Amino acid sequence: MKDFADRIAVVTGGGTGMGRELVRQLVAEGCNVAMCDLSAQSMAETKRLCEVERLPQGLRITTHVADVSDDSQVQRFRDDVAEQQATDKIHLLFNNAGIGGGGSMFSNSREEWERTFNICWGGVYNCTRAFLPMLQRADQGHIVNTSSVNGFWASVGPGISHTSYCAAKFAVKGFTEALITDLQVHAPHIKCSVVMPGHIGTSIVTNSRKIQSGNDSDTLTAQELAGARQRIAAAGFDAARMSDAQVEKLVLERARQFLEEAPTTAAAAAKIILDGVKADRWRILVGHDAERIDELVRQSPEQAYDVDFFESFAAEVGWRLGTPTPRRPPEGPQ
Ligand SMILES: NC(=O)c1ccc[n+]([C@@H]2O[C@H](COP(=O)([O-])OP(=O)(O)OC[C@H]3O[C@@H](n4cnc5c(N)ncnc54)[C@H](O)[C@@H]3O)[C@@H](O)[C@H]2O)c1
Repeated sequence: MKDFADRIAVVTGGGTGMGRELVRQLVAEGCNVAMCDLSAQSMAETKRLCEVERLPQGLRITTHVADVSDDSQVQRFRDDVAEQQATDKIHLLFNNAGIGGGGSMFSNSREEWERTFNICWGGVYNCTRAFLPMLQRADQGHIVNTSSVNGFWASVGPGISHTSYCAAKFAVKGFTEALITDLQVHAPHIKCSVVMPGHIGTSIVTNSRKIQSGNDSDTLTAQELAGARQRIAAAGFDAARMSDAQVEKLVLERARQFLEEAPTTAAAAAKIILDGVKADRWRILVGHDAERIDELVRQSPEQAYDVDFFESFAAEVGWRLGTPTPRRPPEGPQ
């Protein structure tokens, strides 16, 4: 698809981060957008940011509260899109919504593990199923599934458990690669791409904590503090000697660093993704760090989970995530 003007795009997780920037850039190119998110407030802000720019006449931006991990909510989202966008077809589906958390099979509950997995993988699956008939009715379609570098490399550094997110992101990558052939056989006018970002500056660390815990405040609950202490200890620090206030400060500082000290901004990431779609690329690596880790894992797959491998990669690309230093809170990046 060479341009997006007058097309209709669905973007999941359009309330913040890369989803918000995708919505803004699509709208700026004259594309109608229907977005969903858990948060009505953050979608209202995305819409406001779009409307600050002058919108093309008649362009539709609709917002829909829906949890992509819940199939009945996704089906309602699809029906609302059809009604509010007055259409029986869409051209672009960005399966972008995702959260981290639930990293350990030992220290996280089954509910936490499955919450991450069901959003990151189940959301992609539910939305693809729900919107496929609408994509089939369009003259051209494109499905853009956001995986991660954790879709081909299951680590964010030594000492950090990250099983649920990595399992989900590998699933997204495998599904999308297999979809290439399925679409060629059954719906050749629809293309698909898997997006594999490196570290992108977004609020995903904060958002994931809030969605996982149901606690919308910056003051950590007793359960969140206990979880953070476990992760700090697992990364080799003496968490027992830290006060609750110190643990909380570390968690908040970690989220700030993730947002503010990333090599790639969410806006730059959205541009790379949209350029990749226009160029018909099925694999879209986002950021120099993502390109480099892709090369390194292919070069030395057997070493990919060694401490040295991580440390030399982190030093080369300037990642401060995952390297245990006293300033860095030991929670995995997304
Ligand atoms: N930021 C990174 O470094 C990075 C790296 C690789 C991959 N990713 C992936 O990119 C995607 C976007 O992440 P981001 O960094 O922009 O994060 P973000 O937290 O800024 O945005 C994600 C959005 O998805 C929404 N969301 C979460 N769960 C949802 C659900 N169940 N239903 C509907 N909406 C939901 C959130 O409310 C949020 O608005 C995610 O899939 C993430 O895993 C991010």
